[in-house]
Parts: sequence; C-alpha cells; structure tokens
Amino acid sequence: MENSNNNGNNSNNNNKQQPQKKKKWFFSLVFSLLLSTLLIIISISIASTPTRFYNRPYIHNLRPKFVEQELHVLSTSSERIPRLAYLISGSTGDGESLKRTLKALYHPRNQYAVHLDLEASADERMELAKFVESEPLFKQVGNVRMVSKANLVTYRGPTMVTNTLHAAAILLKEGGDWDWFINLSASDYPLVTQDDLLHVLSTIPRDLNFIEHTSDIGWKEHQRAKPVIIDPGLYTVQKSDVFWVPEKRNVPTAYKLFTGSAWMMLSRPFIEFFICNAPEFCNTTVNHDLHFISWDNPPKQHPHFLTVDDYQRMVESNAPFARKFGRSEPVLDKIDSELLRRNADGFVPGGWFNNKSKSVFTVPHRAVANTSDLRPGPGAERLKRLISGLISAEDFDAKHCI
Ligand SMILES: *[C@@H]1O[C@H](CO)[C@@H](O)[C@H](O)[C@H]1NC(C)=O
Ligand SMILES: *[C@@H]1O[C@H](CO)[C@@H](O)[C@H](O)[C@H]1NC(C)=O
Ligand SMILES: *[C@@H]1O[C@H](CO)[C@@H](O)[C@H](O)[C@H]1NC(C)=O
Ligand SMILES: *[C@@H]1O[C@H](CO)[C@@H](O)[C@H](O)[C@H]1NC(C)=O
Repeated sequence: MENSNNNGNNSNNNNKQQPQKKKKWFFSLVFSLLLSTLLIIISISIASTPTRFYNRPYIHNLRPKFVEQELHVLSTSSERIPRLAYLISGSTGDGESLKRTLKALYHPRNQYAVHLDLEASADERMELAKFVESEPLFKQVGNVRMVSKANLVTYRGPTMVTNTLHAAAILLKEGGDWDWFINLSASDYPLVTQDDLLHVLSTIPRDLNFIEHTSDIGWKEHQRAKPVIIDPGLYTVQKSDVFWVPEKRNVPTAYKLFTGSAWMMLSRPFIEFFICNAPEFCNTTVNHDLHFISWDNPPKQHPHFLTVDDYQRMVESNAPFARKFGRSEPVLDKIDSELLRRNADGFVPGGWFNNKSKSVFTVPHRAVANTSDLRPGPGAERLKRLISGLISAEDFDAKHCI
C-alpha cells in the first residue's frame, strides 16, 4: 500500500526510497498535505448560495469529474441504508480497549479492520487475532478482520498516515461496498448506537466528508510546518518518538497547508481519490470531526481524559463519538448502560438483534439477516440535530477548505 500512498503528496511519499529526502512533517501537517491536494485551485471562488437543508444541488449525488480519464472512480451506493468501514487501531496494552470499542461499534452491515501496531507484543496481537477468529458472530457475518501485516506507527509521524492508507486499501479490497471510512483508536468510543448512526446517515448525501480543518495555521507554521522531523518508524522496528533535525525548511508554496482534527469520516469516492490531486471534493467537506473532545484552552498536544464529570456535555454535544477514554474508565459503563443499552461484554442492541426474549443477553441468539432493519433510538435524534445543524448552517458553504 505504501506505493499508492502518493495521494496528492507525491514528494512526501517518494521520500521513502530516497535517503536524502527522508524528512517528514508533523502529523497534522502530513494530514494537511493530503488535504491540500484538494485545494490547489479553489479557495478563492467559493460563492455563497441560499441554504437548502439536505438539498443542495451540488452536494446531492455530487459525482466528481476527473481530469484523469483513466482513473476509475466508483459511484456512491444506491442502497437505502449506508454501510461504514471502520479502522480501529491501538498499540501495546490497548488489546482490551480495542475489543470493547469493536463490540460497541459492531453492526453486521459494517466492515471492520483492527490493527495493533508492532509495538504490541506478539502475545497481545495473537490474543486479538484469536478473539476476532473465535467470536462466532464475526465468523458468521465475516466482516471483521485484523490487519495481519502490522505496521509500526509513530504518533505524529507519517507512519500514522501510511497505516491508515494501508487499512483503507484492505477495506476497499476486501470490504465490499461500504460508503464511509472512519478511523478510530482504541481510546475512542461511540455515544450513539450503529442503528442511530446508520439511520441518520441514510438521510444525507453519501459524498459528504467530515473533516474538521483550517488553513489558518497560525503558530503552527513556525512550530510544525518549518521544523524537519524524522519518523523512526519508517526505518527501524523499535518504536521511538519522532525527532527533530536542526535545519528548518521553508513553508511549501506549491500547495496550501491545512491543519485540523485527526478524526474524520471520509466518503468512499474520496478514499479512492486519495491517489491524485483535484478540487472536486471541496464542496463535500463538512467542517466537523463528529467527535466530542475536551481540549485545554489553548489546546495542548493531548485532550483531557473524559470522566463521568464530562458525561452531560458529551451527550449534549450530539456527537456520535467521543475521546479520549482511559482503559476501563467508569464513564464507559455509564455510556454502555444509558446510551447504548449494551451489557458488559455484549453487543449493542439494534434492529439486527433477535430481541424477542425478555431477558437481557450479550450475544444475539441469531444475527438477523436483514441488516436494513434499524431501530434508531434517542441517539439518532441527537445525531440528527448535529448533522442537520451542520449541513443547514448559513455558513456551510463558507467553511469548505478554508
Ligand atoms: C486517522 O488517519 C489520519 C491520517 O492517517 C491520522 O492522521 C489520524 O491520526 C488517524 N486517527 C486515528 C484516530 O487513528
Ligand atoms: C462548489 O460550489 C460552488 C458554489 O456553489 C460552485 O460554484 C462550484 O462550482 C462547486 N465546485 C465544484 C468542484 O463542484
Ligand atoms: C429489546 O427488548 C426489550 C424488552 O422487550 C425492549 O425494551 C427493547 O426496547 C428492545 N430493544 C430493541 C433495540 O428493540
Ligand atoms: C428488511 O427490513 C426493511 C426495513 O424494516 C424492510 O423495508 C424490508 O422489506 C426488509 N426486507 C426483507 C427481505 O425482509
């Protein structure tokens, strides 16, 4: 997959084989470089148009047109209920959290790739592989896979991007027709059920990409764009942090740099399009990352760990996901019982559950074949408020690629 990682960022990618160019940028800027591929031409020409909720002609069934004739881009699916492709990744010690997040996110319509990076011990990775293989439901439905060729992932380093692209490629190849790609880590957790999420997403255009971003990089120009960093994960098998070399570089002028959230939900055509440069996706961006995250003001490198004290704000945010949660954090139990109605170690009830029995159970008696049968609950109402607010906002058009 590294080969197809020249997604709009050829120079960054080709570096891999060329020692003199081994220099890599900070994670946000690496991501920004990917994003910048969308933006070479636009940015000046965004006119505002009257607001029509869910009905904007250019986002509704918008099909990008490509200069590259040979590029084959799939259309968005026409199924009424969408399908999601999740990457859930973790590192050493995250095995249990990862299993819990996977179960809380599980729905038989979706596709899942789980990844424990190379820093995790062979035993821990084996344990997760066994769990994925031996869970009868996963076997029956066949929609959960472990990234077997694990990568070493350096936080903030370009190996984070290559790992995401690797998993996206696996999901494109093996995951059938999904509609959106969502990458999460073991310390993310859902605040709504998948029935809620699928229900609400079935009402919005499949082209929308949720990417919280800005080109106003401010202090980051100095602190993050100019320093030259090395990601040891590209060259060694021992995990260590990125390191800085004394030289600074000039900020590139050939493209615009963006910074933003590391959490996103990207449409399938966009993921496919990651291998070339074009502005076609600009109008499909929704400037939000679908997460509740509690940052310091001004933000530090890491957000706060969420606890029961944050519960109310979490729910009121209407966001479908939240982070960051410590391992076995008690508020997760509260989310399980109050928001997801999930029993300890169980799956999240929804339309696909055979829910005839009065008793509570952790594993469905039988996975219902009709996965289009959704039972959205209060979470769907919350999420609908968030998404319709975003899409119908007066400044929706003004917030693309800014
Ligand atoms: C999602 O992918 C992007 C791009 O690789 C990465 O920067 C970000 O850290 C990832 N987020 C998570 C939660 O893994
Ligand atoms: C994006 O939307 C603007 C405003 O409606 C429109 O003028 C422009 O042509 C659109 N760009 C693309 C690539 O669809
Ligand atoms: C499952 O059944 C219980 C008891 O009959 C009911 O209260 C609950 O709403 C059902 N859950 C779903 C998701 O249908
Ligand atoms: C599956 O469920 C959906 C929604 O309840 C319903 O419209 C559809 O007819 C069902 N399909 C089958 C084959 O039962």
